[in-house]
Amino acid sequence: MNEENKVLRGKVCIVTGANTGIGRVTAMELARQGAHVFLACRNEAKAQLVVEEIIRETGSLVEFLPLDLGDLQSVRACVKEFESHNLPLHILVNNAGIAGSRGVTTDGFELTFGVNHLGPFLLTNLLLDTLKASAPARIVNVSSRSHYQAKTIDFDAQRQSTASYTGLPEYESSKLANVLFSSELANRLKSTGVTTYAVHPGVVASDIWHRVPWGFRSLVKLFMISVEDGAKTSIDCALSPSRADETGLYYDACKTKRPSKASQDTALAAQLWARSEEWVSVQSSS
Ligand SMILES: NC(=O)c1ccc[n+]([C@@H]2O[C@H](COP(=O)([O-])OP(=O)(O)OC[C@H]3O[C@@H](n4cnc5c(N)ncnc54)[C@H](OP(=O)(O)O)[C@@H]3O)[C@@H](O)[C@H]2O)c1
Repeated sequence: MNEENKVLRGKVCIVTGANTGIGRVTAMELARQGAHVFLACRNEAKAQLVVEEIIRETGSLVEFLPLDLGDLQSVRACVKEFESHNLPLHILVNNAGIAGSRGVTTDGFELTFGVNHLGPFLLTNLLLDTLKASAPARIVNVSSRSHYQAKTIDFDAQRQSTASYTGLPEYESSKLANVLFSSELANRLKSTGVTTYAVHPGVVASDIWHRVPWGFRSLVKLFMISVEDGAKTSIDCALSPSRADETGLYYDACKTKRPSKASQDTALAAQLWARSEEWVSVQSSS
């Protein structure tokens, strides 16, 4: 691509979970557009291979940032390491996620909620000052159509190990948390020049399905799209000039869509924010 046509020249981006799947394709495209891209991942060996691949393909600056979203200390350390570079931040893509896993995070939260919501909640909040100082800036939160299945968030359940056998109800609830977080964040960021986007990527043939029970997996396999197609909505929200003035909305197949009724419950969004804030600050003082 011609250097002048690279729309992200001079811009800095972080993509979480960028060593594979939708995140890898998203990071590749941001780098192709000239951005300095940080791959925030938990496995350095896997991430370094992708860092090298993206540099080879795009010639852009690409770096690894260690991040385990299931460990709040790791989230804090990741932000410290990013801040040590003294760079602005124009695009944060909260992409990393798990499905079908069971257990608790390092800090004792339900595993899927901890990795898919609480870790990204802390990461985003710790990066907010940098994002605001770099505005216009965008935060893309990769949610899922599964959020329609969750009718509310059981806050007590988030302090215990995964209750269900499949981990899928917990996944649905974590993805509802992503949409609630994205819209509440948009309200809190009014007039800052930082905009938010909640995304359903499609049903995508990625590693995420490995832990999902076989019966369910074989059914959804019939409808799966490629990781390249799955990254299109994240990339559209991160890049499109036409999206610059939009914020707090939900997107599917590169179009805005009405999210679930529960995800539009402003009282639930406020409660989720308050509980998440309390939980991450309790951890910070321990
Ligand atoms: N695939 C779909 O059909 C689908 C549908 C709707 C929504 N989504 C959402 O799309 C996003 C990307 O998923 P994907 O399909 O591309 O899945 P994927 O291929 O499994 O990639 C998930 C990424 O998240 C990372 N990750 C997992 N746990 C982490 C942790 N504790 N700390 C940091 N990173 C962690 C993984 O790292 P490792 O490689 O080290 O495990 C991997 O890089 C997820 O938020 C998912 O919920 C996917």
